[in-house]
Amino acid sequence: MDKVIIAIDGFASTGKSTLAKKLSQHLGLRYVDSGALFRGITFWVLKNGWVSDDNLNELAIEKGLDNLNIFFDSVTNILSVNGIDVTEAIRSKEVSAQVSQIAKLSFVRSFLLNQQRQMSLRAGLVMDGRDIGTVVFPNADFKFFFTAKPEVRAQRRLEEMEASGHQANFADVLKNILDRDRIDSQRKISPLKKAADAIEINTSELSLEQAFDLLIAKINTK
Ligand code: CDP
Repeated sequence: MDKVIIAIDGFASTGKSTLAKKLSQHLGLRYVDSGALFRGITFWVLKNGWVSDDNLNELAIEKGLDNLNIFFDSVTNILSVNGIDVTEAIRSKEVSAQVSQIAKLSFVRSFLLNQQRQMSLRAGLVMDGRDIGTVVFPNADFKFFFTAKPEVRAQRRLEEMEASGHQANFADVLKNILDRDRIDSQRKISPLKKAADAIEINTSELSLEQAFDLLIAKINTK
């Protein structure tokens, strides 16, 4: 497929990234995890001590962005922040706990919006996130919106975290997922919502293979 853009949005831990990656490989397109970019900025903000539970140094973040170099490699899926590989580090509990506060900031969103759009200039891609079909690529060729029961999502995320060596428990993971869904859906700029022309996919009862087959079927019948 040439210069095709596929947008996959939806709630936290609904399987977007796994399926977007699989779909990109199947179709020979590049894959971009836009959430990794927001997580990367959050990691950098935490590292600089600019955010805690009751304090957010917006001025320092906005100024710091002038010198921030953040890069998602769509071939290796490695995320680097100022040249350092933070692919694993951005999955920590600390980053998950703060990312939605950082993703609300208008200057963070416009900084990443440019970068996301530039990635589409050379070739087609599959990008997953929250506002890809609504704001980043409103003219995407295909748009999907993923949902699933919160308990199913928390269980999947817990297993993913444990497999990659991050300590977690079910209740905390569920709470983080619900908190992020609320903040992401309620924010003023680019809130998480289904684009009018997106196809909704509920992955609660679907295996990875079933969800993948469904996506391919929808793409082939459009
Ligand atoms: O993989 P998971 O569903 O946990 O989330 P993610 O894709 O890694 O995104 C982490 C957070 O980044 C989300 O909860 C949003 O706050 C933010 N985000 C966003 O605001 N817009 C995007 N396009 C992607 C992520």
